[in-house]
Amino acid sequence: MIESEALPTMFVCDGCCCGRTEKGHAEVPVNKLKTTWKREKLDKKINLKISNCLGYCSLHNVTVLKNKNKKTWIGKLSSEEHYKAVIEWAENVALDGVNAKMPNILVPHLFLPTEM
Ligand code: FES
Repeated sequence: MIESEALPTMFVCDGCCCGRTEKGHAEVPVNKLKTTWKREKLDKKINLKISNCLGYCSLHNVTVLKNKNKKTWIGKLSSEEHYKAVIEWAENVALDGVNAKMPNILVPHLFLPTEM
């Protein structure tokens, strides 16, 4: 699968904290993300990985867009609107690449990871 490995990947955390409603965090709409990726054929342009802990639990819920040169992190996703915007972002990336416009609703959620 060399071709798909060269694609950017959206890692959506659904780990020990992200998505754990019993810890008071928003549910991660895993099925909606997967079905949208398939229905819209986003998987031809951007991989979707529902991931385990990405190491930033304090910023739950976390998503990172990664390609070989760049990682763009967002956290504190807490609503269906945020995950709709993640899909919109992926659609933009599928059209325009990893520097595609991020939906405005996600911009305040950007963070720079620190060494752990
Ligand atoms: S469980 Fe998502 S960052 Fe830890």
